[in-house]
Amino acid sequence: MAKSGSVSASDAIVVEDKTFTLNGDNVSYRFHVDNTTGDLLSDHFGGSISGAIPTDPEPEVNGWVGMIGRVRREFPDQGRGDFRAPAIHIRQSAGYAVSELQYQSHSVIQGKPELPGLPATFGGEDDVTTLVVHLYDNYSSVAADLSYSIFPKYDAIVRSANVTNKGKGDITIEALASLSVDLPLEDLDMIGLRGDWAREARRERRRVEYGSQGFGSTTGFSSHLHNPFLALVHPSTTESQGEAWGFSLVYTGSFAVDVEKGSQGLTRALLGFNRNQLSWSLGPGESLTSPECVSVYSNNGIGGMSRSLHRLYRNHLIKSQFATSNRPVLLNSWEGVYFDYNQTSMYTLAEKSAALGTKLFVMDDGWFGKEYPRVSDNAGLGDWTPNPDRFPKGLDPLVSNVTELKAGNTSTNLRFGIWIEPEMVNPNSTLYKKHPDWVMHAGPYPRTERRQQLLLNLALPEVQNFVIDTVSDILNSADITYVKWDHNRGMHESASPSANHAYMLGIYHVFDVLTTRFPNVLWEGCASGGGRFDPGVLQYFPQIWTSDDTDAVERISIQLGTSLAYPPSAMGAHISAVPNHQTGRSIPVVFRAHVAMMGGSFGLELNPEELTEDESAAVPGLIKQAEEIAPIILKGDMFRLKLPEESNWPAVLFVSEEGDKAVMFAFQINPTVNHAFPRIRLQGLDEQATYKVEGEGEFSGKTLMNMGLLVAFEGDYSSKVLSLERV
Ligand code: GLA
Repeated sequence: MAKSGSVSASDAIVVEDKTFTLNGDNVSYRFHVDNTTGDLLSDHFGGSISGAIPTDPEPEVNGWVGMIGRVRREFPDQGRGDFRAPAIHIRQSAGYAVSELQYQSHSVIQGKPELPGLPATFGGEDDVTTLVVHLYDNYSSVAADLSYSIFPKYDAIVRSANVTNKGKGDITIEALASLSVDLPLEDLDMIGLRGDWAREARRERRRVEYGSQGFGSTTGFSSHLHNPFLALVHPSTTESQGEAWGFSLVYTGSFAVDVEKGSQGLTRALLGFNRNQLSWSLGPGESLTSPECVSVYSNNGIGGMSRSLHRLYRNHLIKSQFATSNRPVLLNSWEGVYFDYNQTSMYTLAEKSAALGTKLFVMDDGWFGKEYPRVSDNAGLGDWTPNPDRFPKGLDPLVSNVTELKAGNTSTNLRFGIWIEPEMVNPNSTLYKKHPDWVMHAGPYPRTERRQQLLLNLALPEVQNFVIDTVSDILNSADITYVKWDHNRGMHESASPSANHAYMLGIYHVFDVLTTRFPNVLWEGCASGGGRFDPGVLQYFPQIWTSDDTDAVERISIQLGTSLAYPPSAMGAHISAVPNHQTGRSIPVVFRAHVAMMGGSFGLELNPEELTEDESAAVPGLIKQAEEIAPIILKGDMFRLKLPEESNWPAVLFVSEEGDKAVMFAFQINPTVNHAFPRIRLQGLDEQATYKVEGEGEFSGKTLMNMGLLVAFEGDYSSKVLSLERV
């Protein structure tokens, strides 16, 4: 919401002579054209500034590094004495790797143009203003347009680059960063999210040292290994205090994050394509557009940075009509029955789940394949017809019966959802026998399999059409209103480095066509859990299955890690059976449910027949509780009060958009004997207001934030969810 005194979109970009200032409510981003060289030089990215700025003394130039290597540059090109990593590296038609991109002109646009073929943040003229700076290299006839869009209410600046070959020969783009930012000399820490399958989004904080350090993905996709997100913070910055810069790349493919502290002590950060997988050739007149990178600035710590990203993504990235609406509580069949089912047992599972009060039933993997039935994970992908042994009359009879069931004792009919993995093919499939050339491969090299499957090459129009038609046919065949779109392997052999980005353009086209064609379907992304938890996917799918690890304690770290960049509304989180299938740990159902309630899409992933009597009795109430608090989780602000990495008592507060309600989650992991409990100090409340805290009494916002609540726990894996209401 716009605060009074906030910067309006029309005042957000100030151009004076050749100085450009982008202003948000609490941020200024300023750069200018160097009159001698035509290079764009950075002045400031941080808290608000106004009017004239002090003139910096010229850097001393001695030794091998000239002026260009000692200044802060907006779009460092290659080969003229800036020895730090470049934002752009072009192999010119004559073979040179030198560029000299100089300022030509600029334009200011109210609103934000779309990025051709790529997902992007969006907004109207009142939300966002865009500055496009046109650069040109007179020697190579290459043009580069840098787009800077500012969303003033979110303190967010979004940048992308478009490169056009205006010359007569072919050129190759070897490297292109969406964002390059040079920060002044100061000590900084960098934070990233690393992991692996079933171990996503571990927060990794380290000091930025002299030289290069970075991370990325060469898996073809954003991946579990590293997320396309970077935060730079001061060493003293905490969750709630200090400056934090957050960078989030709106891309699902291989990426690179490079952070380099140069010899002069300035820090350069680059986010964009992974240069090992680009080599993008441009013929005369052709262009390449980079994905966009979102940057947010906060002086309210890492938490403030996350909340800006969350708000921006909820309101200006996720296109689905379900972005902030209550999602139906679901039961997903995977961990309950895996591949072991038929039409009758699937119906029984739906019936039992409806009795517990779920609103959506999702049939996971295993429903398809005729000649090569998908009864295990070594066959069937690609053959998207129902398995006739399991579904002799197709899907419709099951779907019709399930959608007649009522959720609990309500009059709401159950919805039906289905799992698909349409970018893949098993060699054991009719599709592969028919179209072996449709898979990603590199000539004669063996096609390496993961989970007995190969990746279809979505860069091929015929493959795009196959996927669009297949998924459309499934959705038209029965009353299916939810899709879990899975993706369970990376890209191994590809015909050329550029095939990777070509794939991304193809899959984005497919996502765009299908989500536009079926806007009433609730789409969930998944890639062996969080292998593609990125802003690119979120443009099309409002939620993503956060991890294949459903152990509730593990999930606290994974979900809170993921929340560094992504809104809780985007996270799928389920109660699964105990002992947990990934860790073997047994955690009480209430704790499992409380952790899952912190995700926007809450559900169960178990066989209700295997619940104990106590668990069965508890689940309907937990579902109700999840539904009641869902609006705050989906639309509210999240405050990570205590982190699982640092405390035995992790805690999170969600405060509603209007500030009138809040809900606090607090957990105890290990038992405590004869020991005190910590006070949990709340955040984000109104100091002057009084809040009624469920079961505790009425307290001022001041007291709750400065003194805090003392929550007592019993035993290990105990949890509390407390509602707060402003009186
Ligand atoms: C992946 C997903 C799981 C499940 C299986 C089915 O691992 O992440 O949730 O759908 O595939 O094969």
